[in-house]
Amino acid sequence: MEAIVSHSDAPPAPPSHVAIIMDGNGRWAKGKGLPRTAGHKQGAEAVRRAIRAASDLGLSYLTLYGFSSENWKRPAAEVGDLMALLRLYLRSEIAELHEQGVRLRIIGDRSKLADDIVSLIENAENLTRDNTGLTVIVALSYGSRDEILAATRRLSTMVRDGRLAPEAITEERFSSELATVNVPDPDLLIRTSGEQRLSNFLLWQLAYTELVFIDTLWPDFDRVDLEHAISEYLRRERRYGTSTG
Ligand code: IPE
Ligand code: IPE
Ligand code: MG
Repeated sequence: MEAIVSHSDAPPAPPSHVAIIMDGNGRWAKGKGLPRTAGHKQGAEAVRRAIRAASDLGLSYLTLYGFSSENWKRPAAEVGDLMALLRLYLRSEIAELHEQGVRLRIIGDRSKLADDIVSLIENAENLTRDNTGLTVIVALSYGSRDEILAATRRLSTMVRDGRLAPEAITEERFSSELATVNVPDPDLLIRTSGEQRLSNFLLWQLAYTELVFIDTLWPDFDRVDLEHAISEYLRRERRYGTSTG
């Protein structure tokens, strides 16, 4: 007779989508007596490592919080340094990402970014659009409340104009108005540097995501940190509101 295997005995599926709030660049630099920008520079190295590791581990999606809508409030010099780094990264890394089969997608408010950065982003997205490897989504000038409000405005305009029935605004329909359209919700969210908050990141999309907070400062983040976070995820039981057992 066949053993009856209950659903909960099945090994948990590895995460397909990991999102990361990359935090702690400034503290990393401070700890070494360096300017904050040195932390951001090392942070870019950590991005390179994280993408490579995520690819090797067979993830389908990696979403990285690079710059929040609130980060515009930082001193102009720091914002300038971050934008210069972003330019450098987009110019020097895209060919390599393309070779790795990575598909790049940028979410966030592009109207606040410099025109040349927007062009670099568009070129990178176009170049990598048909790649079938890891999809890397970078949130730049991104704020989740902005994203939700923009979706709400578009939907309410359609309702006002008689093109959409209020009852047709389902979770699926709403999700399709978000910047993450066609991307499954993250399975696992990692935030580095010991902070335990979401800082306006993917508030809708993280509804049932497992949250893992680690003390590593982002510039030190490596493959082992990613593997540990995934092991922690695999020990969790995702219930989606159902009862235990
Ligand atoms: C994360 O590091 C990078 C960005 C938010 C752009 P921080 O710059 O926030 O570093 P801490 O939190 O001050 O250490
Ligand atoms: C969140 O980090 C944004 C990014 C990592 C890009 P912050 O350092 O800006 O967040 P708070 O201000 O500590 O909440
Ligand atoms: Mg921070």
